[in-house]
This record gives sequence, structure tokens and C-alpha cells, in this order.
Amino acid sequence: MRRLALVTLIALGGCEKQMQDMYDQPRYKPLAASSMFTDGGASRPPVAGTQVHARGTFSGSSSGRVGTDTAQRWYRDELATSNPYPVTLSLLKRGQDRFNIYCAPCHSPVGDGDGFIVHRGFPAPPSYHIDRLREAPDRHFFDVMTHGYGIMYPYADRVTPRDRWAIVAYIRALQLSQHAPASSLDRESPK
Ligand code: HEC
Repeated sequence: MRRLALVTLIALGGCEKQMQDMYDQPRYKPLAASSMFTDGGASRPPVAGTQVHARGTFSGSSSGRVGTDTAQRWYRDELATSNPYPVTLSLLKRGQDRFNIYCAPCHSPVGDGDGFIVHRGFPAPPSYHIDRLREAPDRHFFDVMTHGYGIMYPYADRVTPRDRWAIVAYIRALQLSQHAPASSLDRESPK
């Protein structure tokens, strides 16, 4: 019996050694040099036709190989201090569409913070129609979506920079809808 235990111990010891070898197996670190390939690098470029699917400001450009227009536009949009897109009807419609998907469940379709998730017990966000948020710069709304705010989690992984600016434009339209000065209203009722 004792011998069996000893044999088992030795056998298991062998397993442990094997595992260590797998941890420590020879490998190249990213960007290390290698004489195996003609370009002298161990990392291989992506094969032709590879599609970038990572998200984030630098995801398209961090390797330096896939410097795409999209990555540059995203980078510009992430840094813009005010909306870099002209506020057209199509931008507003895109913003409305994304807002109703991602924000309205809590902030409500009109942005007063009375969304249905709040009805289910989630803490109510502030209304977009309070003075502080009407006076807040565009960039504040962009930052809240990018980084989250208090208990609100970030949306950067779900809403592209362009869509975040589209949402900002739409929130501005919502704010105007609740605070349009009477003098700006058309006297005639809409046909
Ligand atoms: C799951 C609910 C929820 C969703 C969805 C949500 N928010 Fe919020 N939001 C909150 C809550 C709660 C707060 C208040 C956070 C706090 O003060 O801790 C908040 C706060 C804010 C504020 C106010 C920040 C300030 O200065 O007081 C803005 C602006 C905002 N959210 C924008 C958005 C936008 C735009 C979206 C959609 C991309 C969105 N939120 C999606 C819950 C949500």
C-alpha cells in the first residue's frame, strides 16, 4: 500500500513538471525580434482582408499597421470639444434612434429622468431640463456617455463616438423642446 502511494506521488510529480514546462515553454514576446522571418520581427502582420473588430479610440491604430480612416475619425471625434458634425435632420434621427435604445429606458423618451427602469426601482437620473444640464457644454454629455457618471455606467463600448455626438445633438433638441422661448414659436398652428 505504501509503495503504491509512493509510485502515485512520483507519477504526479511528473505531471507537475510537465505543467511547469508548458508554462515556461519557449515563445516570443509581442514585437520581439526574430531571425525566422525576413522582416526580422516575431509578430506576423494580419493576413490580407483581415477586418478590424476591436472597439475604442486606438484599437484600429495601436499596431500601426491598420491606420484606417475610421480610426482617425474616431480619434478626432473622441477629442472634439463640441459636436464635430453639422446638426442635420439625419444626424438628429440617428441620435433619436440611439437615444431611444440606450438612454430612454432610464432617462425617458423626453429626458425628464422618468424612464421605465426607474419605475422598477432604479435610482432616478436628473432631468435634462434642469438649468445646470441645459447650460452644460456638449462635451459634458459626451463625457458622461464615454466614462459613465456616478452610478450610471459608461456606453463607450456600445455607442460609437459619432453616435455619441448624434445623441448629444438629439438631447439638445429635447432640451429646446421643453424650453423654446414663446417668441420663437410660429403664430400659425401647424397644418
Ligand atoms: C440604467 C439607467 C441609465 C441609462 C440606460 C442611462 N443613464 Fe444616464 N444616468 C443614469 C443615472 C442614475 C444618472 C445619475 C447618476 C448619478 O448622479 O450618480 C444618470 C446621469 C446622466 C446625466 C447627468 C450627468 C450630470 O451632470 O448630472 C447625463 C447627461 C446622462 N445620464 C446621459 C445619458 C445618456 C446620453 C445615456 C444613453 C447613452 C444614458 N445616460 C443612459 C441612469 C442611466
